[in-house]
Amino acid sequence: MRFRRSGAGQLIRRFGVRRRPAFFGRVPIAAAFILTLRPSRDWDDFRVRAVGFFEFGGPEVLQVVDLPEPHAGPGEVRIRVRAATVNPIDTLARAGKRRDAMAELSPPYVVGMEAAGEIDEVGAGAPWPVGEHVIALVLPFGPHKGAHAEQVVVPAAQVVRAPAGMGPVEAATIPMNGMTAALVIEALDLPPGATTAVTGAAGAVGGYVIQLAKAAGLQVIADASEKDRGLVRDLGADEIVPRGADVARHIRALAPDGVAGLVDASVQHAQVVPAIADGGVLVLVRDWAGEPGRGIRKRHVLVSQAAGRQDLLVAVRDRAEQGVLVPRVARTFSPEEAAVAHRMLKAGGTRGRLVITF
Ligand SMILES: NC(=O)c1ccc[n+]([C@@H]2O[C@H](COP(=O)([O-])OP(=O)(O)OC[C@H]3O[C@@H](n4cnc5c(N)ncnc54)[C@H](OP(=O)(O)O)[C@@H]3O)[C@@H](O)[C@H]2O)c1
Repeated sequence: MRFRRSGAGQLIRRFGVRRRPAFFGRVPIAAAFILTLRPSRDWDDFRVRAVGFFEFGGPEVLQVVDLPEPHAGPGEVRIRVRAATVNPIDTLARAGKRRDAMAELSPPYVVGMEAAGEIDEVGAGAPWPVGEHVIALVLPFGPHKGAHAEQVVVPAAQVVRAPAGMGPVEAATIPMNGMTAALVIEALDLPPGATTAVTGAAGAVGGYVIQLAKAAGLQVIADASEKDRGLVRDLGADEIVPRGADVARHIRALAPDGVAGLVDASVQHAQVVPAIADGGVLVLVRDWAGEPGRGIRKRHVLVSQAAGRQDLLVAVRDRAEQGVLVPRVARTFSPEEAAVAHRMLKAGGTRGRLVITF
């Protein structure tokens, strides 16, 4: 049987968000709904499944929730999400370590900063056709919820056509971490032939940074555990040093004057500074109030601040199509398995991104 949207849509809005499984929760909705039957659309048209949480805490706070269908406003598009990655920022937000940024939001909180899917609704003035396969940078701490949902609304400038020949699971790993890596290369601002070090090289950001750095003609010294040496070599590193607290000493052994730039994707801060040459560049992906000294310039990269940089997203997508950026996926998860993904990411050791599929 088909029903018209007005009845169900209003009911969902009146009842607010529903948690899943919601068999009993649906009974009063369904009863009231039957009273207002009007043929037109399916019940399923009015709910959007999402991975959400109502309070901060461990992975167990995650649940599948039903949200009211979001709509694209002027200059925005809505994406039918097929795949969305799980990133460190998601586990931090869930654990309550981004409370300040989330103070204005109302639960259920839905995180997720990158997605792949098809455009299924276009707001006024947004230059996109319905049905286009796209990838998007998503900002979950803004007016719309995050990417871990069947549908997400984003400004049109945060969207580009998906890489040709790439499925949504792999494509979803490109926008946020790819843009971050591209911003890192901009922040390094080194000429071809210069040497940069990359820590956390086996991770998502580190791996993409190596690939873009090599494409920019840089020499790369990367860290790796013994078991990751082959992986980091395949990513393109010229030299590999043991990872850990002593990484700066190992880098100095290869570059006695220090490296011109260092990308601290392992978030070791002061530990990596001795590897950098006087007057060199330290690129940070997490805040660090420390002072490196010796004229070393500290540059913070924050991908959310570059959200309007569609040019960068296009460049990153093109790099993926050219085979420069190579997506790595460790495992996919259903929305119900999101807590498992959060646990795996937090435990460390995962090589390749964890992706929720919808
Ligand atoms: N500023 C931004 O805009 C932005 C954007 C994206 C990401 N980030 C941040 O960038 C960082 C990296 O993100 P990611 O997605 O690449 O994470 P990831 O995939 O987990 O990679 C991090 C890598 O660093 C390694 N690592 C962790 N602690 C280490 C240590 N003490 N010594 C040596 N290696 C260590 C990890 O190894 P194990 O897996 O073995 O622990 C892993 O290989 C995160 O802090 C994330 O929040 C910032």
